[in-house]
Amino acid sequence: MGKNKLGLAAAAGLTASLALGSAYSEPVEDKLVIDGREMTTWTEAPADHPFDELISGWHYRTDETRALEADSFENPGMLYVERGEEIWNAVDGAAGKSCASCHQDASETMAGVGASYPKWNEAAGKPYNLELQINECRVEQMQAEPYKFDAPEQVALATFIKHQSLGEPVEIDLAEGDMQKWWERGKDRYYLRTGQLNMACATCHEDYNGRYIRADHLSQGNVNGFPTYRLNTGGMVSLHNRFRGCIRDTRAEFPAAFSDDLMALEVYVTWRGQGLSVETPAVRQ
Ligand code: HEC
Ligand code: HEC
Repeated sequence: MGKNKLGLAAAAGLTASLALGSAYSEPVEDKLVIDGREMTTWTEAPADHPFDELISGWHYRTDETRALEADSFENPGMLYVERGEEIWNAVDGAAGKSCASCHQDASETMAGVGASYPKWNEAAGKPYNLELQINECRVEQMQAEPYKFDAPEQVALATFIKHQSLGEPVEIDLAEGDMQKWWERGKDRYYLRTGQLNMACATCHEDYNGRYIRADHLSQGNVNGFPTYRLNTGGMVSLHNRFRGCIRDTRAEFPAAFSDDLMALEVYVTWRGQGLSVETPAVRQ
C-alpha cells in the first residue's frame, strides 16, 4: 500500500519489545453511513501523496467498534457533543457573553468550519487549530480565561464544533501565510526517528500500516475523527493527546501540547488525510 518504504530492517531489532507483529491484514471493506449520510472513508490519494489510497482509521477497527460509530444513538462520543452545545450557550467571562451571543446557531455558523483547521492566523503568525481559536475567542471576545490543554470544556466544545462538519471533507489551505513552511516542518517531524525505540510516525503508520501492535491494527494515523471517543480509556481524546501518546510509545520525550512541534505535525498530518470525511466523534479502541 505504501509507495515509499523506509526500510523495515532499522526497526526490526526493536519490534519484539513493542510486540510489533508480522501478521498483516487488510483494512475491512465496509461503508460508513451516519444519520443517513455516507462518509468518505476510503478514497484515492493525490499523486504527491505517500499512499495510493487514503483510508480512515474506522476501517481498521472491529465490527463492534465500527457499528458503535455508525449509530449516533449508541456512539458514546455524542454525549460530549451535547455537553459542548451546553457550553456553547453558557455565558462566561467579564463581557457577559456566550459563544452563541456572537455565533448564534452553530449548526449554521459552524457548518464546515472545523473541517478546515488548522488555519493560518495572521496576528499570531502561526497556524491555529480549533482549540487555539476557541481560546482566542474566550480571551479576546468574552474576557474569560483560556482553557488549559485538555480541560473537559475544551474537549467538549471542540467535539461539538467539529461535529458540525460531520461528513464534510477535510481540507486545509496551505497557500495562506507561512502554512507551507509549517507543512515542511511537520513532514520532517513525521519522518524523524526518536526515542529509545528510534521510531518515526512513519515507521508505524506507513511501514507497519496494516500490521498489529499489541493486538492493535495499525491504521494510516489520520486525524479526521478527532476529538475521538476511545473505548480503552472511556472518554474523548484530543488530537494532541493522541500525538503525545504515540510519541511516548517510542519512549521519547514528548513535546508540549500546542507547541510549534505539534502544531506543525497537525498541519502535515491533516494534509495527509485531506478528502476523508470529518467523523467527529469517531469511535476507536
Ligand atoms: C463577542 C463576539 C464573540 C464571541 C462571544 C465569541 N466569538 Fe468566536 N469569533 C468572533 C469573531 C469576530 C471571529 C472572527 C475573527 C477571529 O478569528 O477572531 C470569531 C471566530 C471564531 C471561529 C473561527 C471561525 C472560522 O471561520 O474559522 C471559531 C471556531 C469561533 N469563533 C468559536 C467561538 C467559540 C467556541 C466561542 C465561545 C467559547 C466564541 N467563538 C465566542 C466573535 C466572537
Ligand atoms: C509505535 C507505533 C506508533 C508510532 C511510532 C506512532 N503511532 Fe500513532 N498510533 C499507533 C497506534 C497503535 C494507534 C491506534 C491504532 C491506529 O489507529 O493505528 C495510533 C493511532 C494514531 C492516530 C489516530 C488514528 C485514528 O484513526 O484514530 C493518529 C492521528 C496517530 N496515531 C498519529 C501519529 C503521529 C503523528 C505519530 C508521530 C508523532 C505517531 N502516530 C506515531 C502507533 C504508533
